[in-house]
This record gives sequence, structure tokens and C-alpha cells, in this order.
Amino acid sequence: MAKDNKKDKFSTEGLKVPVSLGVIMDGNGRWAKKRLLPRSAGHRAGAENLKELCRNCGNYGVKYLTVYAFSTENWSRPQAEVDQLMKLFVEFFAKYDPELEEEGIRVRFTGDIDALPEDLRKVCREGEERSKNRQKMQLIVAFNYGGRREITQAAQSLAKDVAEGRLSIEDITEDSLSERMYLPDVPDPELIIRPSGELRISNFLLWECAYSEFWVSDTLWPDFGYEDLTQAFRDYAKRDRRFGGLSKKEG
Ligand code: FPP
Repeated sequence: MAKDNKKDKFSTEGLKVPVSLGVIMDGNGRWAKKRLLPRSAGHRAGAENLKELCRNCGNYGVKYLTVYAFSTENWSRPQAEVDQLMKLFVEFFAKYDPELEEEGIRVRFTGDIDALPEDLRKVCREGEERSKNRQKMQLIVAFNYGGRREITQAAQSLAKDVAEGRLSIEDITEDSLSERMYLPDVPDPELIIRPSGELRISNFLLWECAYSEFWVSDTLWPDFGYEDLTQAFRDYAKRDRRFGGLSKKEG
């Protein structure tokens, strides 16, 4: 992996780097279409770009990067595309884990991992185990992820505890629901980036995005690079996060 001049390139002057960042990696299909390539080539280029994003985020000082890799709805795509995505997913960790290790990037998964076929569950488990002591940044891969499913499963878990007498109805609070999300220790994303021009959340981190700032761009995911990321952080520095209260200037 080529080394950047980190001091200049990753200077945070005039930027705000979120501790926790979400990225919806959208536009692989359109990227491939523009080049008269099969959609699978777009996904492959998207996976390569994920590696770059990890490196750039790690160097900027992001601590938690959550990327939307495969949603609970993506199973409805043609079987050949689903198969290619699963193959790419397995290959990604086999091919790039040494680079992620070199960068100090821990890998975790969020989503309905228990519902995946055994071979994929194994890739997730092994990837998490292998990387658990890495310290620089956590790459959280949303895989078989749906925000509605996450909230539903958290509600089921609370309801079970109430039904079996371990909790009372009054114990159902925002905090106790939050604790039952897939990765309760991961801070809510302060910023969510969506490339490729779509202006929707697509079932991504529905509970966690309550106060996230959104940043969108027309760049298709495989082309989304260092300059786009830096611009997002530059714009984020200008946002006034009020959490339903008043601006610091007014308060
Ligand atoms: C959405 O773009 C993208 C996906 C459903 C897949 C995202 C996967 C990757 C970037 C690569 C694999 C990830 C890992 C973790 C190895 P789209 O295909 O819907 O684009 P379109 O809207 O232009 O058709």
C-alpha cells in the first residue's frame, strides 16, 4: 500500500472529522453501465474503493466507519448478482485483510448475521476474531442489514424479557432498546455520506441516525475518493448540530 504524506494530506484544519461515520456505497451499477461493463465490475470497483475509504478514514482519525454492503432487501436482486456479491464479499476479506491489518483496522459486522448461510457466517466470525485487537479504527460492515429488522429484533428481545418476567413494561426505555441493537457499543453516526445522487436512507441505521447529519454527492461510489471525503468533512465543520435545542449562538 503506497504511503501518503499523512501530515499534509490528512491535516484536519478547517475540517471536522466524525468519530463515527456511515457510508451508503451506492452507484456501482451505474458506474459499470457508463463503461459498458457488467454490474459485477461495478461491485468489484466498489470493493476496491472501500479499501481506499478505510485507509483515508483511518488516517483522518475516524474511529468507527459503518458501510452499507448488503441490505435485507438486496436478496431480491437477480440470483447471479447476489451470488457475485457474496463471492466478492468472501474474496474481499481474504485479499485485503493483510492491508487492513497493516492499517490497524478492526472488522465487525452489523446485521442479521445469524440468518446467513454457514459459510458466510464463518467469514464474518473469523474476520472479527482475527482483527479484534486492532486499535486504529473499526470497519463495521452492514451485511444482511435492515434498520427495521434491527429495531424489530431489539423489540422482540425486550418483549421476551418482559414475558418471562425479567423486565417490567416500565423498563422499556430508549436506553434499554438501544442496548439491544446489533452493536450497542458503537456510537451513533454523526455524519452519513451517500454518493450517487439518491436522497434517501434506504433502511440504513434507522434507529442510530436520529441526529445524524447527511451529506450527499453525485459521484458514483467507485469514484468517491479522498477529495469527496475531505469535502464532506469540510462541509460537516459548518453544520450546526442542535439536537432539537437551540444553536450555541442563540443559547
Ligand atoms: C449499491 O449500488 C451497492 C450494493 C448493493 C453493494 C455494495 C457492495 C460493495 C461496494 C462491494 C462489496 C462490499 C464488501 C464489504 C466487500 P447499486 O449496485 O445498487 O448501484 P446502482 O444504484 O447504480 O445500480
